[in-house]
Amino acid sequence: MPSLDQMPSQIKPRLAAINQQHLLHFYASLAPAQQIALIDQIASLDLESLPKLISEYVLTKPQLKLPAKLAPARVYPNDPTDKARGGEHAWDQAAARVRGEALIRAGKVAAFVVAGGQGSRLGFEGPKGCYPAGSVTNKPLFQIFAEQILATQRRYSTIVPWYVMTSPLNHDQTTSFFRQHNYWGLSPEHVRFFQQGVAPSIDMKTGKVLLAAKHEVATNPDGHGGCVRALHVSGSLADMQKRGVEHLCYFQVDNPLVRVIDPIFLGLHVGDGKGGIATSGEMSSKMVAKAGPEEKVGVFVLADGKTEVLEYSDMPADLQNARDSRGNLLYNAGSIAIHAISVEFLSRLATDARFTLPWHRAEKKIPHVNLETGETVSPSANNGVKLEKFIFDALALCKQSLVYETLREEEFGPIKNATGVDSVVTSKALQTSRAAKWLEAAGVSVPRKTDGAPDCTLELSALTALAPEELRGAKLPKAIERGTTIAL
Ligand code: UD1
Repeated sequence: MPSLDQMPSQIKPRLAAINQQHLLHFYASLAPAQQIALIDQIASLDLESLPKLISEYVLTKPQLKLPAKLAPARVYPNDPTDKARGGEHAWDQAAARVRGEALIRAGKVAAFVVAGGQGSRLGFEGPKGCYPAGSVTNKPLFQIFAEQILATQRRYSTIVPWYVMTSPLNHDQTTSFFRQHNYWGLSPEHVRFFQQGVAPSIDMKTGKVLLAAKHEVATNPDGHGGCVRALHVSGSLADMQKRGVEHLCYFQVDNPLVRVIDPIFLGLHVGDGKGGIATSGEMSSKMVAKAGPEEKVGVFVLADGKTEVLEYSDMPADLQNARDSRGNLLYNAGSIAIHAISVEFLSRLATDARFTLPWHRAEKKIPHVNLETGETVSPSANNGVKLEKFIFDALALCKQSLVYETLREEEFGPIKNATGVDSVVTSKALQTSRAAKWLEAAGVSVPRKTDGAPDCTLELSALTALAPEELRGAKLPKAIERGTTIAL
């Protein structure tokens, strides 16, 4: 470790070489502890790669090149007997379930949530996973997932380790939230937290890295694609290998309806070993039919023959609105950001430079210190670029991958916005609808309004039922009273 007065002299030439000396502009006026913090932070950045990144992603806007051959992705229909839609993808659901359940029982499956994002659209102070999401109980998102993992462990007499990716923005708050709630009954030795990396936030016009404070570089979490490196450097991949975990069930922190561990999806993902299912077992994905052309979800496409996600912000309007001969949206396979990913594939992504994920540019309003006045500026228009990686770019690196259709009402009710579409209000309504459907299938009478929506508020814990069939034979009320609120 160099001494304090040596440190700037080591960092200075490196900063000068990349034209970012301004990061030490306030150095002389800082307290010693702040000086150390700033130098540590600068030294932790990949400084030498910055000029290329800045010239390719900040000072120029990378133009999206649509593939020469673009077509809708081929999908395994939710109903395996749907020959009209399935065609070559008709499949055996019972066999897939058996394969998936065998993997779970053998302890070869782990849950993996990406929870490092900033959640700025929701306007919630604190990690998004702490958000009160349960339609009746207001239980936090993390608890909803924890109960599913616990219920899966009980159902299959196994351990399902849970990997939780946080970021420097929310790591301590996340881990103390789990401790405060005793991990909702999970065993802490099987829950592993690790932090994703950060990328420097950069001034859009000048290409200079911004200072968040006189002693702090402005940074942002490096996107959910940052999980590849973070899983590796944190030792999480090694931990999986030690435990014998072979596949990860990847999901986002914002969707309380996610089926965290889905045996059918896992069984499809690994294939039947006889070539009956076109899969490499490297990375598979779930889709739902898009709610409409404008819905803000990525879309699975076949790009020059490879399954990929075209992000909603990159989708040209003519493609977004294109219809097939029956009048349905042509590009209809909406990504709900649920994947099954093999540990072997992740290890290859993390260690083989040929498998590096690309960066994406997002223009944002980034508060920063004005170098001349020393004051903090909160811009009213976009002034900076955040650089992020996306996990779904790994699809293009698979030998082959499959997309499985699930039902929106069963598995997609995200909480992204404070109000309106994809808000806690819509998510809670979807939780009630799904619970109503499951209860009715088990013979319970559920009151409905004239428009068909349940006339009650319902919440069904995974500890009561992980799937509709678990309600059969359970102790349930015969009928639910109109207007009541019930958590089961
Ligand atoms: C995302 C997907 C979109 C998909 C939709 C489904 C992206 C870029 N787009 O959109 O294709 O259809 O979800 O709901 O992801 N996160 C991190 N670290 C980060 C950034 C994000 O862990 O650095 C996590 C967040 O905590 C969250 C998830 O990634 O769980 C999604 O991030 P967000 O930026 O909200 O994506 P969306 O725009 O909702």
